[in-house]
Amino acid sequence: MAQSLSGAAGDATRGREIVGNKSLGNCVACHMISDQAEVPFHGEIGPPLDGAGERWSEAELRGIVANAKMMFDGSMMPSFYKTEGFIRPGKAYTGKAADDTFGPILTAQQIEDVVAYLTTLKE
Ligand code: HEC
Repeated sequence: MAQSLSGAAGDATRGREIVGNKSLGNCVACHMISDQAEVPFHGEIGPPLDGAGERWSEAELRGIVANAKMMFDGSMMPSFYKTEGFIRPGKAYTGKAADDTFGPILTAQQIEDVVAYLTTLKE
């Protein structure tokens, strides 16, 4: 995905907050990130994201964060910007049934912020 989803550039500082925030991206639940050492309980379900900005291009990172299931067949990683084809609708991570606010887990701009942050992660 080469194009910015929101049409605007991402903000890496905001992206860093989303990645470590348990009610937003909560990426650390599954990924170890050395740069987020102040956030407790990093998971090991996914690979460490240290160096992700060297392994992947910005376009690839956008594809992974927006729709991991498209990048990795059968991935456990949630698709954070999927707007159709939900199999089990539920309000993201809350265990509650879907309501009118059901939609992508992150907004287009939040995806851009996360991608901007990921590109800064070097080994
Ligand atoms: C439920 C667990 C889970 C969550 C939550 C999760 N991921 Fe992942 N992620 C994975 C797994 C598992 C993989 C490995 C690919 C696969 O599915 O085989 C992965 C792969 C990746 C990769 C590629 C890894 C590499 O080789 O560098 C990136 C980048 C990534 N995730 C970013 C994120 C970001 C950013 C978030 C938060 C917005 C996030 N992930 C949230 C499970 C998760």
